[in-house]
Amino acid sequence: MKVLIVGGGGREHAIAMCAAKSPRVEKIYCAPGNAGIGQIAECVPIGAMEFDRLAAFAKENGIDFTIVGMDDPLVGGIVDVFEAAGLKVFGPRKNAAILEGSKAFSKDLMKKYKIPTAAYETFDDPKEAVAYLEQAKMPIVLKADGLALGKGVLICGTLEEAKAGVKEIMEDKKFGEAGSRIVIEEFMSGREVSVLSFVDGKTIRAMASAQDHKRAKDGDQGLNTGGMGTFSPSPFYTAEVDEFCRKHIYQATVDAMAAEGRPFTGVIFFGLMLTEDGPKVLEYNARFGDPEAQVVLPRMKNDMIEVMEACVEGRLDEIDLQFEDNAAVCVVLASDGYPVSYEKGFEIRGLERFDGKDGYYCFHAGTALKDGKVVTNGGRVLGVTAKGADLKEARTNAYKATEWVDFDNKYMRGDIGKAIDEA
Ligand code: AMP
Ligand code: GLY
Repeated sequence: MKVLIVGGGGREHAIAMCAAKSPRVEKIYCAPGNAGIGQIAECVPIGAMEFDRLAAFAKENGIDFTIVGMDDPLVGGIVDVFEAAGLKVFGPRKNAAILEGSKAFSKDLMKKYKIPTAAYETFDDPKEAVAYLEQAKMPIVLKADGLALGKGVLICGTLEEAKAGVKEIMEDKKFGEAGSRIVIEEFMSGREVSVLSFVDGKTIRAMASAQDHKRAKDGDQGLNTGGMGTFSPSPFYTAEVDEFCRKHIYQATVDAMAAEGRPFTGVIFFGLMLTEDGPKVLEYNARFGDPEAQVVLPRMKNDMIEVMEACVEGRLDEIDLQFEDNAAVCVVLASDGYPVSYEKGFEIRGLERFDGKDGYYCFHAGTALKDGKVVTNGGRVLGVTAKGADLKEARTNAYKATEWVDFDNKYMRGDIGKAIDEA
């Protein structure tokens, strides 16, 4: 089987690694890919938003199965283009990817189908939004409706901050058109957990839980980023929480999408807040998380391609999804200055030290090849993942492995997985 992966970050590297392990896969292409993915796949210089060129490439090269890793092409309708060309593709259609593409849509869905989430109101007019804020309880959360690279959420402690936030999002258009509409939401406190799941339109199979660290600096300080590190499983995701989520959130979401005439096939990422009143949905994503995929996929026992094919063919009920009884931690090595401004093009040394070491992975996020050398090419550069018998061992192993690689301006958080000690 020939597989095409669309994307070029750490998540796609983890997906490519799983695809390469499948005995059914003979060749992997990745568009656009990166230097690390290039070691196991052939990188194709076509952008993830060039749907027609990608579909033409898949046709010409006899691609049997395409996996879309990224949110932008999914929300933009890449799956519909591939299906119309008669190509087999893993991911939600445009009418289902809206679960991630519009926060107003997903909040309305949850309200309609009584899926637990924070109370909210949606506004198209900044004046009405401000009038609402004036009688609301602080802190409060503002969310740009559309896709904003995971950055369209503002948590505001005071009315002044919240008013300034409405101006930034709706008038200054800090997140572009994504901010023409906003959702204003009740602030929730608790532990955050991410649960990724495979979905075939009607059946859902949850993967092992994970937790991301979104802020740039230690102690959850600094700006929001795409994610600075993850661990899996989350010790806070107990059997009781799991039972509640399966009953009131996971299947309910899949059934709601089907009832709306938008059956969801692919991966649903549930961002959950474990509040005093029970688990509630913070957000949905229509794809694997990054870097969540980098700790969840290495622990999966199943042949990933087999599971994804079952999703596309509507027979996920036949799959017994299994994870290793261990733990994994991923520490992101970033370019100093991320997420604001940073330099690129520095040589990365020591990558070969990962070769052949069982349970250690160096997923490439922002890397490129320059004159035969692997160089930094983004804010998040590498995701160093290690497994261990438990979370503490996995964390020790991951931090040890971060020392194997080096590049100028290397930056990482020192406290990924620290919450484990409080469990
Ligand atoms: P989202 O993109 O919706 O996941 O939001 C990004 C981050 O903002 C989440 O991971 C939470 O840390 C935080 N957040 C979002 N919504 C809320 C909320 N209602 N209450 C508290 N924190 C929130
Ligand atoms: N790590 C969060 C995300 O992928 O959206």
